[in-house]
Amino acid sequence: MLSIQNLHVSYGPIKVLKGVSLHIDQGEIVALIGANGAGKTTLMSTISGLLRPQSGEIKFEGQDIIKFPPDKIVKLGISLVPEGRQIFAPLTVLENLELGAYLRSKDKKGIKEDLDKIFSIFPKLKERKNQQAGTLSGGEQQMLAIARAFMARPRLLLLDEPSLGLAPMVLELIMDSILELNKEGLTILIVEQNAIKALEISTRGYVLETGRIILQGSSNELKEDPDVIRAYLGKDYEEITER
Ligand SMILES: Nc1ncnc2c1ncn2[C@@H]1O[C@H](COP(=O)(O)OP(=O)(O)OP(=O)(O)O)[C@@H](O)[C@H]1O
Ligand SMILES: [Mg+2]
Repeated sequence: MLSIQNLHVSYGPIKVLKGVSLHIDQGEIVALIGANGAGKTTLMSTISGLLRPQSGEIKFEGQDIIKFPPDKIVKLGISLVPEGRQIFAPLTVLENLELGAYLRSKDKKGIKEDLDKIFSIFPKLKERKNQQAGTLSGGEQQMLAIARAFMARPRLLLLDEPSLGLAPMVLELIMDSILELNKEGLTILIVEQNAIKALEISTRGYVLETGRIILQGSSNELKEDPDVIRAYLGKDYEEITER
């Protein structure tokens, strides 16, 4: 579905992505893990058309999208949930969701169907649909950010750190809803600092280190890789698996 070849991205003179290649098949959840500053957000922004790469190739369903503007990429079926849940605080929950569907605002029936779907996956959002989005809790705002991206009816959803700053209970809720969206047919690329969680819900993963993919494999393999455990899963995880 998505294929990236030898992607190079810089901010001025600073090279951030140094030849990244990866692919995502239809129906997959793919995890991208890596330390702060590795270039994960840069990769997500580049796929979304917000940054122009120096070189490389990005193909979505066989089509070269590297020069496409962000709105055209959304129209093709790729939606980004950016880091830091950028919802429209003064608008209500419902208005935020409707804005997510603005590129297909004439499709009243489809929008209604998708709202029903969203409200069944996120009952909290239904309860609070007339509440001002800025007054939602952090976890509810993250749910809204994911739901708003879903309203564009994407086929590929890019999630940049959905668990950032969330309590463990809310994190579970978000992860469950991501799995549910995947069951609805959505293909997902998820960037996560919480590598354990990301590898639990994904089928495959990539490890990005200072702009290069240094490891890739099935999520089960990665969970057992000594380097991944040391660098990303931490000592606690090692102790759990030794027991
Ligand atoms: N607009 C920018 N101008 C210059 N440098 C930038 C810009 N945005 C990001 N960078 C730099 O690019 C590198 C990669 O940043 P990026 O945000 O992609 O990392 P990340 O892997 O998403 O990190 P985190 O886990 O902290 O979100 C960092 O060193 C960062 O300082
Ligand atoms: Mg980031």
